[in-house]
Amino acid sequence: MALLEVRNLSTSFFTDEGEVRAVNGVSFDLERGRVLGIVGESGSGKSVTAYSIMQILASTGRIVGGSVRFDGQELVGAGEKVMKTVRGNRISIIFQDPMTSLNPTYTIGRQLMEAILLHTDRNREQAHERAVEMLRLVNVNEPEKRMKQYPYEFSGGMRQRVMIAMALACEPDILIADEPTTALDVTIQAGILELMKDIQKKIGMAIIMITHDLGVVAQLCDEVIVMYAGAICEQGTADEIFYNPKHEYTKGLLRSIPTASNTDQKLEPISGTPIDLLNMPKGCPFAPRCDAAMKICIRSRCERMEINEHHAAACWQNLREEMLRAGVEQKGGEQS
Ligand SMILES: Nc1ncnc2c1ncn2[C@@H]1O[C@H](COP(=O)(O)OP(=O)(O)O)[C@@H](O)[C@H]1O
Ligand SMILES: [Mg+2]
Repeated sequence: MALLEVRNLSTSFFTDEGEVRAVNGVSFDLERGRVLGIVGESGSGKSVTAYSIMQILASTGRIVGGSVRFDGQELVGAGEKVMKTVRGNRISIIFQDPMTSLNPTYTIGRQLMEAILLHTDRNREQAHERAVEMLRLVNVNEPEKRMKQYPYEFSGGMRQRVMIAMALACEPDILIADEPTTALDVTIQAGILELMKDIQKKIGMAIIMITHDLGVVAQLCDEVIVMYAGAICEQGTADEIFYNPKHEYTKGLLRSIPTASNTDQKLEPISGTPIDLLNMPKGCPFAPRCDAAMKICIRSRCERMEINEHHAAACWQNLREEMLRAGVEQKGGEQS
């Protein structure tokens, strides 16, 4: 049994314009101590997937189907009482903008201690000790002095380190990081990722790393989910996704990142705009933007197909290639 088993998770927002199907049938496993990347363009449903797991959706949002099993317990429909024991204690989340998560009127120390007191059975003295220890863990210098300072006295990168410290203070089994470095400068971003990698090795918690940046995935992740229009179009080990991509959307994403070999070449962003979630097409949601789209792609949506034991994709191209290969084999057989 995996630590986290997400099956057919579907989440919609009920708005004046209609049902916005933000997440459609997402399934994945997360094992203890592993790092899973969720990657996709803005609006692909990454955050809503995370918020559904934590059940912190906006009031118009609702999980409309599927299951989230954490450590053997079903969370969908389990109720607030159960979620309170999970959130912050066993699954922690850090957000893109650390300023919105920190209270500007309290010292960093007070906020860290409050989180520790709330989620663990330490007394004040122990909580103070733990807070200092956590600041040290995330490489904040002079932690004793920093405890007494306010968020505005910290740089963006330092604030994000504090958020990581806060999320880790209660030793969660899973840390969900929702674009934790997107708001930061590239150099600071690299430092934070390095830090997360170090801590992950030390503590061994599982991480769900949400990002629109495949470079981040390459640095950190064991497994990868590629999302498009609220659904998984491809999933597999990081090696499979990077060296053997089997969905046209993933191939497009890979072409659009700078690599050592194409830094001075023009990047190829994928042209076209994402699909309207209020009016989902019958076929593959990526088909209107796909250079390789066939008739079948417009007519019907490809189900998830196993490429190998560590890799699956939902792209008709794979069936086409399989049929071509089979045809070649058959022809070869006829001739001999
Ligand atoms: N509160 C909301 N009300 C209506 N629609 C929403 C809301 N939050 C998210 N959505 C819809 O869900 C889609 C996925 O959002 P999100 O998961 O935040 O994307 P991202 O992959 O960038 O994290 C968005 O395109 C948006 O249309
Ligand atoms: Mg997001």
